[in-house]
Amino acid sequence: MDIEQAKEQISQLRKQINYHNYRYYILDEPEISDAEYDRLMRKLQALENQFPELITPDSPTQRVGAAPLEAFESYTHATPMLSLDNGFDEGEIREFDARLRKMLPPNEQVQYVAEPKFDGLAVELVYENGVLTVGATRGDGVVGENVTQNIKTIKSVPLRLIDREIPPPERLEVRGEVVIPIKDFEKLNLRREKSGEPLFANPRNAAAGSLRQLDPKVTASRPLDIFFHSSGQVTGYTFRTHWEFLDTITKWGLKVSPLKRLCRSIDETFAFYSELMKMRENLPYEIDGMVIKVNDMAQRATIGEKTRSPRWAIAYKFPARQEITQIIDIIAQVGRTGTLTPVAIMKPVRIGGVEVSRATLHNQDEIDRKDIRIGDWVVVQRAGDVIPEVVKVIESRRTGNEKKYQLPNKCPVCGSHVVRLPDEVAHRCQNMSCPAQLKQQIKHFASRNAMDIEGIGNKLVDQLVDSGLVKNAADLYFLSKNQWANLDRLAEKSASNIIDALEKSKRVPLERFIFALGIRFVGEHSAKLLAQHFRSLENLKKATYEDLLEIHEIGPQSARSIVEFFAEPKNLQTIERLLEAGVTIEKGKEADAGEKPLAGKTFVFTGALENFSRNEAEKLVESLGGRATSSVSKNTSYVVVGKDPGSKAEKARQLGVTMLSEDEFLKIVNR
Ligand code: IVH
Repeated sequence: MDIEQAKEQISQLRKQINYHNYRYYILDEPEISDAEYDRLMRKLQALENQFPELITPDSPTQRVGAAPLEAFESYTHATPMLSLDNGFDEGEIREFDARLRKMLPPNEQVQYVAEPKFDGLAVELVYENGVLTVGATRGDGVVGENVTQNIKTIKSVPLRLIDREIPPPERLEVRGEVVIPIKDFEKLNLRREKSGEPLFANPRNAAAGSLRQLDPKVTASRPLDIFFHSSGQVTGYTFRTHWEFLDTITKWGLKVSPLKRLCRSIDETFAFYSELMKMRENLPYEIDGMVIKVNDMAQRATIGEKTRSPRWAIAYKFPARQEITQIIDIIAQVGRTGTLTPVAIMKPVRIGGVEVSRATLHNQDEIDRKDIRIGDWVVVQRAGDVIPEVVKVIESRRTGNEKKYQLPNKCPVCGSHVVRLPDEVAHRCQNMSCPAQLKQQIKHFASRNAMDIEGIGNKLVDQLVDSGLVKNAADLYFLSKNQWANLDRLAEKSASNIIDALEKSKRVPLERFIFALGIRFVGEHSAKLLAQHFRSLENLKKATYEDLLEIHEIGPQSARSIVEFFAEPKNLQTIERLLEAGVTIEKGKEADAGEKPLAGKTFVFTGALENFSRNEAEKLVESLGGRATSSVSKNTSYVVVGKDPGSKAEKARQLGVTMLSEDEFLKIVNR
């Protein structure tokens, strides 16, 4: 192939990929399966490898792959990113309407566009002649940070605008909100909890934290999404109305919330407000209100702006899911990796139908920043399934008897030194065999997705550790039947059950063994990547920091933690003793080789699955040699039917294709 042919093919492939991205991420109506999409990507990748001079920054292959930065550069917005005034009830919204009407000719009609107010991180993207050139955070409104390489990793951000219907303008500055879906936020926190990382307080913090990563690989691993809602400077195109703006940018491939309404008067916005509030609980994203904006651009220009916010828009906030209560005490909880987390013990209150009596205070910095003291009356907030948190102190209710709190410098469980490392917010107990840490470690080690030792519950672990019988995970395998049976309340029968369970747990796939070790920052997903990459514990042990960074999705933090873990003689000893006890590690499967139990089988998924996203399920099928496609035919081997299945289930029934429930699917893929 000569370079001209390559150029043509590359251009075709990019167009196709961009189009399918748009179908998948913006319209949520894919036309091809993930497998077909991957094939297109691989083909493009191969051509670009062959002709590297044809790689351009807007190629779909260029989303991830930029090197980590030392620091972000600052970025000055061409026009300041304003904020919005808030209104909290109908009265305040009517005042807003009356205020702006005064600036317009008497009795002129004012149309409004109402949209959800996304609770995320504000960003500005710059497209020059349709190509994404800059992505920046809002910062203080005038100067933000240039986070282009991170913005590019967001799948719903087009690197190049679609020009089929309307050619994009010379310069388009478009503003939006980066968000993390609530479900993904919860999964992310669960993963962080398991690997001993500090939790994000809410989806907005998770989105902000993810976007401000110096290593774009980390950002790429976070499920960020974006909704566009306003513009900065635009050269070479004029929008007459905001509605037209939203419509046009959608045609350019930019994601706009479908929940928007054109209202002919302020009254009509109130109906939409009630609708949105009802929908709020079931939306995949956090929204904290509704934004009302004058539709007509000429009217906006007449009405004008204040220094920090426009007069032509307002945020009509939802009532917060907050309550007021008193802090009775603050305690320090010790986690698996020794982190001390301050927890407020409060007079119980009901928030959104749930009784809350504890709230995390995250860390000492948060306590100091919010100046939280024992005895304080505080505002407590709960959003979705997020751990309740203290929002702020009500200082006017202080009596002077409140007590300041400082995390102890001795571990509350073992009395060892507590240290705060220079680059961490966490205070940590330094004693690796601290009973609190040890208990959490043992529970983790025995848990279902780790060694899966049935019958090792909280009470039992407490006894094992408190009695000194177990000083590390390996000790579990060396206890005699007598020792088990002598534990309080453990009958002989249960003792032999546990011994059986221990015996059964001894054959373990490499990825589960790695996960069970409880290395900081190594959750289930990373453990799997490590197992696939290194294929044996011996190889993993020998891995250097640089080797580890080679793996996509393993970042500097995990890499450092892994190296440190295997440099610690105590950890190596524990591993040795586990092997001595007869633990047999099954070799990790290479991502592409290994068994192909689903070879020749074609799967179609319909409806929502409980355990996987569609994408994960399809990837799983492919990793086992099967094919996942999007439409049912008589050649389809199985249709996996989730919750609220679509027409594909019906079609499968007509064609007599085998239908599987999610449970049956799990059995087939051996999960
Ligand atoms: S319009 C000048 N629309 O809320 C007004 N903003 O508190 C420009 N936000 O900084 C913003 N959802 O980042 C607009 N549908 C929406 C929004 C929205 C969330 C954010 C925005 C702004 C902040 C103001």
